[in-house]
Amino acid sequence: MCGIVGYLGKKPALPILIQGLRRLEYRGYDSAGVAVMNGEIVRMRAVGKIDSLADKLKDTKIEGTVGIAHTRWATHGGVTEENAHPHFACDGKLVIAHNGIIENYRELKEKLTSLGHTFKSETDTEVLAHLIEVNYKGDLRLAVETALAQVRGTYGLVAMHANEPNKIVAARLGSPLVIGIGEGEYFIASDATPMLAYTKKVTFLEDGEIAEIGLEGVRTFNLRDELISKKVEEIEWNDEQAQKQGYDHFMLKEIHDQPTVFEDAIRGRVDLEEGTAHLGGLNMTDDQMRSIERIVLIACGTASYAAMVGKYAFERLAGIPTEVDVASEFRYRDPIITDKTLVFAISQSGETADTLAAVREAKRKGAYVRGIVNVVGSTIARETDGGTYIHAGPELAVASTKAFTNMVAIMILYAIQFGRLKRVTLATGQRLIKALLEIPEKMNQVLKLNDQIKVLAEKYSGYKDFLFLGRGINFPVALEGSHKLKEISYIHSEAYPAGEMKHGVNALLSPEFPIFAILVKDQLYEKMRSNIEEVKARKSPIILLATIGDEAVKELAEDVIYVPDTMELLEPLVNTLLLQLFAYHMAVILGKDVDRPRNLAKSVTVE
Ligand code: F6R
Repeated sequence: MCGIVGYLGKKPALPILIQGLRRLEYRGYDSAGVAVMNGEIVRMRAVGKIDSLADKLKDTKIEGTVGIAHTRWATHGGVTEENAHPHFACDGKLVIAHNGIIENYRELKEKLTSLGHTFKSETDTEVLAHLIEVNYKGDLRLAVETALAQVRGTYGLVAMHANEPNKIVAARLGSPLVIGIGEGEYFIASDATPMLAYTKKVTFLEDGEIAEIGLEGVRTFNLRDELISKKVEEIEWNDEQAQKQGYDHFMLKEIHDQPTVFEDAIRGRVDLEEGTAHLGGLNMTDDQMRSIERIVLIACGTASYAAMVGKYAFERLAGIPTEVDVASEFRYRDPIITDKTLVFAISQSGETADTLAAVREAKRKGAYVRGIVNVVGSTIARETDGGTYIHAGPELAVASTKAFTNMVAIMILYAIQFGRLKRVTLATGQRLIKALLEIPEKMNQVLKLNDQIKVLAEKYSGYKDFLFLGRGINFPVALEGSHKLKEISYIHSEAYPAGEMKHGVNALLSPEFPIFAILVKDQLYEKMRSNIEEVKARKSPIILLATIGDEAVKELAEDVIYVPDTMELLEPLVNTLLLQLFAYHMAVILGKDVDRPRNLAKSVTVE
């Protein structure tokens, strides 16, 4: 969802900016643009992929060493070149790129129009450019500061002015910006990915901060124009981690990353001897943990299905009533929160607007609020009073895979930690930890089924609808399998707890409506088997995900794929991988843009 890149240094800025935009492609966008200080400011924009922009630029000679660039995901105004960023104000000397939404842009536009300003786009961003121009008295930072005092809304903003050619001003309120500090060069971006090839040293701008970046360094101010000191942090991800590593798509690479990143998630956090987990980031004493009466898990999309697995784990192991709330509902629902409620916000990006708003609401109401987040230094990670990074590494495909798995892993660790303080015995704790340590090998076994799943996907790629069925802890797995399929292959698909079928969904069953059912050897096996018999009687083609060795289920289904057995609570860590691969191959066979599905963005920073 919109990406900003900026560069200021001694190298030609253009290739660095274009490369940076490519690194941010995963966020989703529909147009792109760049502006470079080259004596005057030279700007180029294009609708569509970054290649279209690069094509337009290939015969130009732009050697300037300071510039900004942007990928736009349309919010105000259609997908046109005029609406693409960066935006000039009237005199062509001031240019800005902006993420976020200026809520009062209409009234500002009216005021500016009455002052004689003319607008070339339909965007709220262009209004902001003109507002900064009105306030420009020779110091760009002061002009930005004065303009921002007049806007309502959110922004991640970069600005340049031709009168101050060696300066970029960056400001943040609600939309992330990271500043990279290299050797005599500086980078600004919506996240650290574009700068990883050049530097690992970064500072994260906080809401209400404005940075003035020049060759002599970075100075950061608050909105009251007070100079503040910022911590420089080292980030762990290297550039190579952010590449596809030989896979055709980021999604396929990320599916295959799972055994490794799962190990990263649990490393140093499990204790086989004590049969427990240690997640220090919780920042709660044992007594505070024992006093928790209710857990609320807030998340969106895939993270909310991971949360549903978490609910099973918390209730079963810790005996704490646990709810899952979709963040966009939670924030407006006036939820019942007490000082004995523990809220976990679960998010890959750590920037999801609804989840962030829910965090703020829960904090306001006095809950313990903790994060289960992937992106280090992201807003949710910083605004929660503790929590745990899931260590999935950069997830660049829009469709989330390894983040789901590691969210589940962390929630299971938390459930074990809480459980051991309450009712889980040492023996059960040890069995769980041992089983967790065996998960990477089981994941590898599932990944070896890749070719078999591809053949299966070929067989079923002609169907227009799908239904995923699961029960118990495999119901969220079915939901996630269905979510993945619709996201990237655009096939209509639903997921149901199999016991619900007879209450309505059975009406849909027919030879045109295939079922993907999870029938593994756990406590609900017999129940699930009867549900599938009912489906079979109504002639829907059936694919079964079954436990290795369960030959008897072959008579029930058109196709069976076998996965290794594990403890029931851990089944999602194995079974989900198979459904991810199925969705992936369906999308590839149907020729879809797997890593960047239409209408979706990786980081949903607007409501
Ligand atoms: C699914 C997907 C989305 C996200 C959702 C939450 O593949 O990518 O459903 O899971 O937008 O995003 P985060 O986890 O970043 O809060």
